[in-house]
Amino acid sequence: RFDSIPLAPPDAILGLTEAFAADTRSEKMNLSVGVYKDASGVTPILKCVKEAEKQLIESEKTKGYLPINGQPDYRSQVQQLVFGDRVESDRIAMVQAPGGTGALRVAGEFLARQCSPTRVFLPSPTWANHNAIMQSAGAPVESYTYLADDRRSLNFEGMLSDLRDKTRPGDAVLLHACCHNPTGVDPTAEQWQEIARVISSQGLIPVLDFAYQGFGDGLEADAVGLHTVLDKCAEAIVCSSYSKNFGLYSERVGAIGLVASNPAAASASLSQLKVLVRSNYSNPPRHGAAIVATILADQELTRLWKTELDEMRIRITQLREKFVEGMAKQAGAPDFSFLLKQKGMFSYSGLTAMQADELRTKYGVYVVGSGRINVAGMDEDRMDWLCGAVAGVLS
Ligand code: LMR
Repeated sequence: RFDSIPLAPPDAILGLTEAFAADTRSEKMNLSVGVYKDASGVTPILKCVKEAEKQLIESEKTKGYLPINGQPDYRSQVQQLVFGDRVESDRIAMVQAPGGTGALRVAGEFLARQCSPTRVFLPSPTWANHNAIMQSAGAPVESYTYLADDRRSLNFEGMLSDLRDKTRPGDAVLLHACCHNPTGVDPTAEQWQEIARVISSQGLIPVLDFAYQGFGDGLEADAVGLHTVLDKCAEAIVCSSYSKNFGLYSERVGAIGLVASNPAAASASLSQLKVLVRSNYSNPPRHGAAIVATILADQELTRLWKTELDEMRIRITQLREKFVEGMAKQAGAPDFSFLLKQKGMFSYSGLTAMQADELRTKYGVYVVGSGRINVAGMDEDRMDWLCGAVAGVLS
């Protein structure tokens, strides 16, 4: 019974945020969870979101249930954002999901139930939650090479040969569409061409985790990998999240966009996705999706959103530069300029689990045990202090 239940270990990422909240040191800094902070240390509500919420409070008429696959105008706006006119609309099954995690979980269950004996290949390394999500969904998990031994660049040949040699036709390959979490190491546009060719010729199902669009090089540029895959593969699943690029973390806004090779297959897939949603959480929450739909339906608000997203991206790049400069001033510290090539919120710092531990206990700086640093959480006013702390555990 309940008294014999063992204690589960804390979550590799959110567990650190719990520990951070309980830490009483005033100098503490949380660089663990992937959350953007502005210059005043706050995760802001975007102005476009506030404006959309004002409009919604006026116009909202009901709190009745949404359809199982979500709010129709949200689905069509998000479908346009993810796919544009690249894929015929009747080949897409679009389902609103509670965040990127919810989307991945439903996609994983779909693969396990409808595409068995498909295995899901995850990059090594990958987001700490991918494994657990796919396993809980009942999908057998395998891994493919991603990061090189230097832990700061892509092992492209290793990746391709794993995708060629380890997989069977019908297996699924999870790809980070941009801003690879946890490393910040993305393929180039030319490498995406090659990746898409291998996925297509091996008969694999690409599953794209698209959680950071706009945080790498911009909305369009960050979709290059996805577009390349869509151009070469007749089937794909895109799990998108609007937590980061709309700053809607707690509203849980995401989507599954399943591309089938023909309209009948898309309809059948949609019907099965709805069965999974119904038995999981019945239907999705309204508010966050309504915010995204309101912004994307309004030219002015969309313009404001793009400006605010650009500001976040530029600030993260500046923080990367300041950190690299700061580390260069620390006597004997290694060169961190590789961080400038990496994309999005995260970078692998090269810190070992023990050094990450020491950084937390000695200085109150929280980074994930893998050495992943959330650059977007750095406090620019205390950059020299942070660099001193990192240099302190490296020496
Ligand atoms: C992260 O990787 O830190 C984010 O995606 C938040 C999370 O849920 O882990």
